[in-house]
Amino acid sequence: MNAELTAVGLGPGDPELITLKGLRAVQAADVIFAPQSRDGDASIALRIATPWIDPSRQEVVTLPLPMTRDSSQLRPAWQAAAEVMAATLGAERRGVYLLLGDPLLYGTFFYLWRELRVCAPTLPVKVIPGVTSFAAAAAAAGMPLAMADERLIVLPASYETDAAALQRLLAEFATVVLMKAGAAAPSIRTALEQLGLLDHALYAERVGLEGEFITRDLRTLDPHHRPYLSLIIVRRGEVL
Ligand SMILES: C[S@@+](CC[C@H](N)C(=O)[O-])C[C@H]1O[C@@H](n2cnc3c(N)ncnc32)[C@H](O)[C@@H]1O
Repeated sequence: MNAELTAVGLGPGDPELITLKGLRAVQAADVIFAPQSRDGDASIALRIATPWIDPSRQEVVTLPLPMTRDSSQLRPAWQAAAEVMAATLGAERRGVYLLLGDPLLYGTFFYLWRELRVCAPTLPVKVIPGVTSFAAAAAAAGMPLAMADERLIVLPASYETDAAALQRLLAEFATVVLMKAGAAAPSIRTALEQLGLLDHALYAERVGLEGEFITRDLRTLDPHHRPYLSLIIVRRGEVL
């Protein structure tokens, strides 16, 4: 058998939101790779996949990846992680790389893939999609993401936090999904208040994980609590 690597989207937290195809790939793997969590804690992806991993026959390798926007630190870390992956797989082993949600939505995998193409150009790489965090949040709250001819936009919250920016977006899009809401949540809340849209938004934190908190009442948000695993969905159109 030839070595291969599959990136598996695990969904946002509930282990049962993995796809059947993802589950089969995890269980068939000789090596499980997972990025180290942002907080230096055990990998969240690894914790989600724990019920599906058998440590007695599968090797688990966590890859420390710096949480910075500084490309001078990032590039060498991606290169080192890709080299570890290629060396661990060798010529024959099957590996999976675990990610939260969908691998190609703000995920770390693409950077690794780029480096793998340099250090292991013949290694076959596949991607198995996953349920995104915003799809799971919308489902949990019963909020439509888009209906009929409506338009939907997904973007990182850090750039769109004031009322003018949100108003511009909502003029064009029926639904605005703001990922990476953490630090921006208090200013988004203020903007929604100014626009009279507090009742048209959803805040979702740690969906499917311990500490899950999902609310349609953004007035209750503590401005000092800014968790990384949080998102906000704002909908101009109908909500129940
Ligand atoms: C690096 S991105 C990964 C997105 C992921 N690939 C996806 O498909 O949802 C991290 C951001 O995704 C969102 N996120 C991921 N998992 C989440 C969860 N369980 N609950 C709430 N938000 C989550 C948050 O906005 C967080 O800042």
